[in-house]
Amino acid sequence: MEKNMNALLEQMTLDEKIAQLVQLATFFYKGAAGDGEITGPMADLGIDQDVVINSGSVLGASGANEVRNIQKEHLAENRLGIPLLIMADIVHGFKTIFPVPLAIGCSWDMELAEKSAEIAAKEAAVSGVHVSFAPMVDLVRDPRWGRVMESTGEDPYLNSLFARAFVRGFQGNDLTNDQHRVAACVKHFAAYGAPEGGRDYNTVNMSERQLRESYLPAYKAALDEGCEMVMTAFNTVDGIPATGNKKLMRDLLRDEWGFDGVLISDWGAVKEQIFHGVAADERESALKSIVAGVDIEMMTSCYPKHLKELVESGEVSEEIIDESVLRILALKEKLGLFENPYRGADEELENQVIMSEEHRKASRELAAKSCVLLKNEGVLPLQKEQKVALVGPFAKSGDILGPWSWHGSKEEAVQLHEGFKMKMDATNLTIAEGSDIETVTEEQVQEAMKAAKEADVIVLALGERSSMSGEACCRADIRLPEAQIQLISKLKELQKPMVAVLFNGRPLDLHGVIDQVDAVLEAWYPGTEGGAAVADLLFGDVNPSGKLTMSFPFSVGQIPVYYNSFNTGRPNRPDAPNHYVSKYLDIPNEPLLPFGFGLSYTNFTYSEMTLTQTIITPNEPITVSVKVTNAGDTAGEEIVQLYIHDISGEIVRPLKELKGYSKVWLQPGETKEIFFTITEEQLRYYHSDLQFTSDNGEFHVMIGPNSKELSALTFELAK
Ligand code: GLC
Repeated sequence: MEKNMNALLEQMTLDEKIAQLVQLATFFYKGAAGDGEITGPMADLGIDQDVVINSGSVLGASGANEVRNIQKEHLAENRLGIPLLIMADIVHGFKTIFPVPLAIGCSWDMELAEKSAEIAAKEAAVSGVHVSFAPMVDLVRDPRWGRVMESTGEDPYLNSLFARAFVRGFQGNDLTNDQHRVAACVKHFAAYGAPEGGRDYNTVNMSERQLRESYLPAYKAALDEGCEMVMTAFNTVDGIPATGNKKLMRDLLRDEWGFDGVLISDWGAVKEQIFHGVAADERESALKSIVAGVDIEMMTSCYPKHLKELVESGEVSEEIIDESVLRILALKEKLGLFENPYRGADEELENQVIMSEEHRKASRELAAKSCVLLKNEGVLPLQKEQKVALVGPFAKSGDILGPWSWHGSKEEAVQLHEGFKMKMDATNLTIAEGSDIETVTEEQVQEAMKAAKEADVIVLALGERSSMSGEACCRADIRLPEAQIQLISKLKELQKPMVAVLFNGRPLDLHGVIDQVDAVLEAWYPGTEGGAAVADLLFGDVNPSGKLTMSFPFSVGQIPVYYNSFNTGRPNRPDAPNHYVSKYLDIPNEPLLPFGFGLSYTNFTYSEMTLTQTIITPNEPITVSVKVTNAGDTAGEEIVQLYIHDISGEIVRPLKELKGYSKVWLQPGETKEIFFTITEEQLRYYHSDLQFTSDNGEFHVMIGPNSKELSALTFELAK
């Protein structure tokens, strides 16, 4: 392989090499059917047709017919017949849309997560896509940020497991021969999920130690799983934009981690170094990014305008350009594009596999496991013969696919009312909109009151419009829109049992909702089969098992709030009241709903937590066990969680660190003993000298159903 690519490289002119580093949107290409996907600021790039003819990859194309036309036209004009890489955002489904990743995170189910990526890859591959800009593995702690929906949450260990699962699903284990897989591109490197103020693209400020401890593990996990590509983040990392950050990209990603795959900028991020204030012009932007090791410039033209002159002036060696070109050619070779530039694009297969019953069934199953039961005071599950009033802006809405579902069809999504009609006699169901997402009229309220008057139970279908979530969609007020709060308050006057189902892309401040109703089911954006999956849960055909992977704040004033926080020198201890402690005067320190929280229709009890021994050494792990019993009358799945706390480290250690979990299915009355092994490696962390080691001393090990309700035992590390 390498020999062929080196031979090809030797035939390429410098102009052709530089053009390989350019990625353009679909509408630059002959054969394109439309504008493709516009996901960033469009500016006049000022490039000539030669750059297009010799460009290396296209962004946002899909559809077997369109891709074949684009590739055919390109090969007809490209002197050396170098095929295009076709890249697109296939984040949680192609046409069969799965729940948003923050929802999938709540399933704690790596098999189903992997399956969702495998299905997304198959639908994308038969539609001509070669690379998906996913998984996004940015750790998140701030629900004001619009893109938390794209992450699997606030824990580095869990995010790392999901990163691996998604990469396995997208890529499989033979990208060359399995033409129903796509290359994955882990993003956004690095720490894009930590913008100040939760405002997208904003400054990220943190120590290298914290970066390595919390934010980098999931990217590394994706690469350890063989992820082929990395995308740079828009933000600065320690004062330097990631897209020109040599220390982050060349020194850490490439030299320390050994990543020799393709590094692509995010949309326009090469040029944006000018706005950041570290590049005087596009020439300097090109210099910084190519030196940092960024191979592909997405949708700006600093490289094609300036790299040639930078090479001719000697400021950039042609070897650096060659390295980037070879990485891109190697990926094309690995995908088999030189043998078959059309790879998996197949219109007949498109019709067979896309939105197939099998794919929709998988989406429905994962959606049911991704929803989280946040409250239930005796009203769920619903009985099929009950009279139900379904009220709210999401009662009849297809806007349940989330903001990264550009190929999904809202029209084909199963809406909540359709899910209800699968479960109950429609004559017992009344439906009213009740309000819009952000406005409500007296007429809407009266219609809702009328619809609810004869009902046994009111189900409220509420939430955020999908355009209130996702990229560049941050909210400083994370409550449900006031119009919907008013609707709840009016319906409460009827004094009937009320259930709220939430369709939203971020943890919300649930005041005005959870305190006003008898049950709350967090449905996130559940995808194509969302209405059916939610109905499966509400009517008890599926017992809820999802658990939160991102804390729900008590209020926006608490942010950032996350489970793996530190104790501080003045912890607020209710058992030892003191004015001078870390606290608010007006709200509690604890989140409204903690990481790992989720209810079931049954209840699980924990007993007999036991340690095999209390001393652990590097060669002798210890085992901790606990018995879990289904004390209710409904079979269900429990996610048993294992945390540790390093009582005294060289660096302050989180009060809790998730180190394991076990999903256990229990019949009513059944008890199972769950075992966890703790190794010395799991106790390591980054010290002040950035060495990743463990310390002798005392640890607490904790087990429970969430990060708050935990039983603890103590052991000691003795190296
Ligand atoms: C967007 C997003 C990135 C996406 C890219 C291409 O700006 O930040 O996640 O993959 O552009 O669409």
